Amino acid sequence: MKNQFVSLKPGALLAPVPAVMVSCALPGEKPNIVTVAWTGTVNSDPPMCSVSLRTSRYSHDIIRDSGEFIINLCGEENLRATDFCGVKSGREIDKFAACQLTAVPVEGFAAPAIGECPLYLACKVTSVQELGSHNLFLGEIKQVGVSKALIGEDGGIDFGKAKLVAYNHGVYYQLGKALGFFGYSVAAPDVLERRMAKLK
Ligand SMILES: Cc1cc2nc3c(=O)[nH]c(=O)nc-3n(C[C@H](O)[C@H](O)[C@H](O)COP(=O)(O)O)c2cc1C
Repeated sequence: MKNQFVSLKPGALLAPVPAVMVSCALPGEKPNIVTVAWTGTVNSDPPMCSVSLRTSRYSHDIIRDSGEFIINLCGEENLRATDFCGVKSGREIDKFAACQLTAVPVEGFAAPAIGECPLYLACKVTSVQELGSHNLFLGEIKQVGVSKALIGEDGGIDFGKAKLVAYNHGVYYQLGKALGFFGYSVAAPDVLERRMAKLK
């Protein structure tokens, strides 16, 4: 059915987006965590991600000066900490301690990964772009860590087990049931049935 559209003031209304915990640290200093919804995959070869931060964030200068950040995906069990790390500043509080999160060392990085999160992407900053309200950090993914609990029998990652959370303009959502898979619209009926049965 075709929609009837009303025109709105231009705004960043892309949705849904992830909500991730980004860990950062300067060498030899206490690590911090900042919650980020404006993050994305921007390249596959080399693998790259972005995070977009207001310059006022305590984490902003840490990431700028250390040249690195670690994106920690948020599963349902990590949601309370994710929200907390998005409303409290590392200027006033040690978020690892306050949320009882484990700082897991990552080789070649001053920042630790978060032990309780299902997967992390450790990135080295390749460029910073001043956009206006936010600065965009582009980073090359140098290391990936995934919880052993997510590795299936075929050696692949079972993302369903991660119970990842989506963020939609102020509200966190559980990911719902699988509706299809890459290429399902053109898949042969037998393939479609077999794959969909597996996804349920
Ligand atoms: C769900 C959620 C998403 C957020 N996304 C962003 C974001 O993309 N960029 C940003 O600069 N701040 C974002 N924030 C706000 C920061 O996480 C928040 O200001 C935090 O307290 C900054 O911590 P810091 O001062 O320790 O760096 C978000 C907060 C929440 C709760």
